[in-house]
Amino acid sequence: MLAHATDDGDFTLSQRDFELIASIAKEQAGIVIRAHKMAMIRGRLLRRLRALHLRSVTEYCELLRGPDADRELPQLLNVLTTNHTAFFRERHHFDHMRSHALPEIYARSTRGDGRVRIWCAASSTGEEPYTLAATVVASQPPRNLDVKILATDIDTDVLARAEAAEYSREVYERSPPDLKGQLQAESVGHDTVRIGANLRKLLTFRQLNLVTPWPMKGPFDAVMCRNVMIYFDAPTKKSIVDRCVDILRPGGWLYLGHSESLSPPHPAFELIGRTVYRRR
Ligand SMILES: C[S@@+](CC[C@H](N)C(=O)[O-])C[C@H]1O[C@@H](n2cnc3c(N)ncnc32)[C@H](O)[C@@H]1O
Repeated sequence: MLAHATDDGDFTLSQRDFELIASIAKEQAGIVIRAHKMAMIRGRLLRRLRALHLRSVTEYCELLRGPDADRELPQLLNVLTTNHTAFFRERHHFDHMRSHALPEIYARSTRGDGRVRIWCAASSTGEEPYTLAATVVASQPPRNLDVKILATDIDTDVLARAEAAEYSREVYERSPPDLKGQLQAESVGHDTVRIGANLRKLLTFRQLNLVTPWPMKGPFDAVMCRNVMIYFDAPTKKSIVDRCVDILRPGGWLYLGHSESLSPPHPAFELIGRTVYRRR
């Protein structure tokens, strides 16, 4: 039990309530929450307690066990997800994309259907898909190609922030100095920037839970699915990677996070570079 009672309420998280939250995270989003994360989970639940004016974690868990649970679930998942991200995070992927993947994709598309489709599968607050858009624009795709980037996440709060395309200047300034110009950011007031319209127009944001059936058929030329599978167990990861095979074109690229390499190797993917895979 993690106890924290104050005059404002009883924020104790009992083992039973922790188990309820962990089972919802696993069932609804595939997210595995281990016991050592109990303090972090309690902190996150406090956000929901405050929003709902509840005075104890137990009261909140009663809500989750009751008939109104379905209405609360999306909000619960929003606080349970970890959304850390950055512009040009793991920049070697964008370097690879610009120098290797995109030129090949444009050549294939020019000879074929004229479409280029990229999926950013856990887009969080948008830094990653805008970095993808910046990389595409900087690579000067042939004008006649129809280039689109789909950005999805389970968390509706981060999707709304991503769609707004506005970032604090501090977040923007953390981008690599030699690359941040590619974001074509404009000032909005003193402390905020907005990602350039040329980049924004390439993107579509949608809510998508990676562990439920995917509504889109593809085929995609590239999928970026980074720093999300670390939260899943091995069977869930395998099922997502298997579905990436189906949704990618032959020769399509899969980019995973730095600690998410395919182990054991997947027969449908060839390892090309640091957590960069190519569909055979
Ligand atoms: C740590 S962030 C990674 C963001 C970005 N891909 C990056 O590498 O910078 C993980 C993201 O995965 C999302 N996520 C977690 N479980 C998910 C699920 N089942 N389906 C879709 N997105 C999920 C979270 O909401 C969060 O925004």
